[in-house]
Amino acid sequence: MSNPTSSKNTVSQNKDDYFLIEKKHLRAQKFFPFQLFMFNPVLENFSLILGANRPLSKDLEMFLNSLIIRGGSLAILMKQKKTFLNSMEHLESEIPSLKEPTTALSSLGQKNELDVEQGKHQDILQKWIIENGEFNFRDIFTKSVNNNSFLTIIQYTRLEVNSFSRFTSPQVSLAIQLCDEFLTLDNEVTRVVAISYQFAKTFEIHDEEFLCDIVLGAFFTFISSCHFPLEMFQKNREQFTTKEENLYKKHPLIAHHLLKKSGIQITERIKFIVLEHHERINGSGFPMEKAGDAIEFASQIVGVISHLFEYCSGKITGQRESIKSTIFHLKNRSIKSGLEYHFSDTIINNLANLINHELYKSEFEDNALEKSVG
Ligand SMILES: [Fe+2]
Repeated sequence: MSNPTSSKNTVSQNKDDYFLIEKKHLRAQKFFPFQLFMFNPVLENFSLILGANRPLSKDLEMFLNSLIIRGGSLAILMKQKKTFLNSMEHLESEIPSLKEPTTALSSLGQKNELDVEQGKHQDILQKWIIENGEFNFRDIFTKSVNNNSFLTIIQYTRLEVNSFSRFTSPQVSLAIQLCDEFLTLDNEVTRVVAISYQFAKTFEIHDEEFLCDIVLGAFFTFISSCHFPLEMFQKNREQFTTKEENLYKKHPLIAHHLLKKSGIQITERIKFIVLEHHERINGSGFPMEKAGDAIEFASQIVGVISHLFEYCSGKITGQRESIKSTIFHLKNRSIKSGLEYHFSDTIINNLANLINHELYKSEFEDNALEKSVG
């Protein structure tokens, strides 16, 4: 969906041109003979959200609701007041902002819930930086690996996503909500989400919508696990029966199907991440055996981080592996049972750069030598 707020330059920003309404004033209708605007109290501007006689789709309604929850207000042009009142069968006295226009309009500029909430998160982020210094992902990743705790990265990612504008798109709004709710614990899901997000930034990706697609795509790759029988959780992948392996290989399709049926609005990029996070550039992945550039870059970002933690947890071979040695072996394209190294050079190089591959080269090569001598 195009960003409804992108038309802000073409609409009046004069507060006197509008009056505010509440969602209930639209009744249960889906078409309106007037334009609908959204007032953003943080930016103090109006955006056209729905043109006259255009359908209020389920997706747009969800987006509107998320904006209203965060402090946004629906607004109508004063020159369309009559059209609004007649078509919605309201009396002027039933609309508070028309009853007391001065009070209502002056309140537009006041700090409200959204302003306070965003400001609070930006303050917390700044406080974190003042107390801890600039967030250096590479340094903190190395420390996290050494301490086997990624909580700092997970919590910092939560702070950063929380500081985004909820008005950007429905996806950004949803990513903020999920991060706020779940990026408080260190577990496999939160590791994949937060590390994928931070890893994306090592490619100089700073677009909030792209980063939030990474967040949502990473979260959604896990939803189809609900479809697996208990026995599958008690085994590693190499112990799966043929039937279980076939079911496992369908999980990206199942996750995508669930999302589609839920009616939740997802971007093409999120869809690709969910569908392609197990695709590998040599065509050895699943479910579609895509290869090379046919696999979205965002899918490879989430794919490699997801595989890293899955492999290290022992879910594939039954044997836990260290993150450092696994990255080393991915970089070296080592042939190891269950290890999938068919990612693009760019992806592998940035991953290796996180642990200072050269530094560990001697460590793991020495270990390999000792083992062979022993
Ligand atoms: Fe997966």
